[in-house]
Amino acid sequence: MKTEWLGADAAGIARAGLLLREGGLVALPTETVYGLAANALEKAAVAKIFEAKGRPQDNPLIVHISRIEQIKALVAAFPPVARALAAAYWPGPLTMVLPRSSLVPGEVSAGLSTVAVRLPGHPVARAVIEAAGVPLAAPSANLSGSPSPTSAGHVRADLWGKIDAILDGGDCGVGVESTVVSLTGEKPRLLRPGGITPAQIAAVAGGVEVDPAVTERLAEGRAAPSPGMKYKHYAPRARVILVRGNKQSYIEYVNAHAGPGVFALCFDEECPALAVKSLPYGHECDAVEQARNLFAALRRLDELGAREVYAHCPEPEGVGLAVYNRLIRAAAFTVVELKDR
Ligand code: TXA
Ligand code: MG
Repeated sequence: MKTEWLGADAAGIARAGLLLREGGLVALPTETVYGLAANALEKAAVAKIFEAKGRPQDNPLIVHISRIEQIKALVAAFPPVARALAAAYWPGPLTMVLPRSSLVPGEVSAGLSTVAVRLPGHPVARAVIEAAGVPLAAPSANLSGSPSPTSAGHVRADLWGKIDAILDGGDCGVGVESTVVSLTGEKPRLLRPGGITPAQIAAVAGGVEVDPAVTERLAEGRAAPSPGMKYKHYAPRARVILVRGNKQSYIEYVNAHAGPGVFALCFDEECPALAVKSLPYGHECDAVEQARNLFAALRRLDELGAREVYAHCPEPEGVGLAVYNRLIRAAAFTVVELKDR
């Protein structure tokens, strides 16, 4: 298939809208990561997303809208807590899981009775939704299992020749996928951490339960509340080991493991003291910066031929919880605990 390369201008947005209306697949920028969009109301278009990504059929998609009122047709209930969260954080990196209306094909939600909805903060994403004239189902625009794309070049590396177009809107600002919160139970439940923090949700919703699968391996035999959490994710080809400890003990540990193909995925401040090749992903105390850089760093490690990567574990607080959640999956839950000195 020929893939068109579109600019983030009026012509590119109009072309993307047309391709989507005709049932095509278009990768587009959002403030979190690039999404692979299709008409959410057309089964055949949605099926193409799963095929292009090699995505497991039981992993549901997020439906993207451009104006808050569009949610009403997609959900069977829009409770006050959802309205309040939408008013506070939309447009932005927040996805809400609500009961699904009959307008949304079951294929979008992998047969679940719910639907995940998001109103993205990126103006180009909203302009493409407007141009398409329909809500857009869009997972991250990567091959299933590889890190989410935060630039149009990442999308090209994964999906060139498999989709109709890539709209280049530059690098993504948030860098990790949206916060997913389920509003179908008694209390709001955080299924995936992202740019909107648990504290921000709690401040509006009066509280939030963090699902244990956010920080731990899914318990044996437990059905995944968010099916995406059960898959190995964000994984570079290298073996990633998450190292928990202070700056000094991290540096000593990594230097003791120096060898061919060994890399450090570290904080900026640590680079000068490391005896292995290092890739910094942000300042130690800046989780927002770490989130923005993480996926590009994971892709870069593959390009550099890394075989073993020692990643310095971030504080799992605020946006850092999202960074931790992605890294621990990249590491397949391999964590080394250091005794700090
Ligand atoms: O920031 C984002 O959310 C990006 C951009 C493109 O908007 N999209 C994204 O989509 O990350 P995806 O498909 O890579 O991740 C969607 C996550 C998965 O973990 C999926 O299991 C979960 O949301 N999800 C989708 N619908 C759900 C539902 N009805 N119930 C529970 N979890 C759901
Ligand atoms: Mg994804």
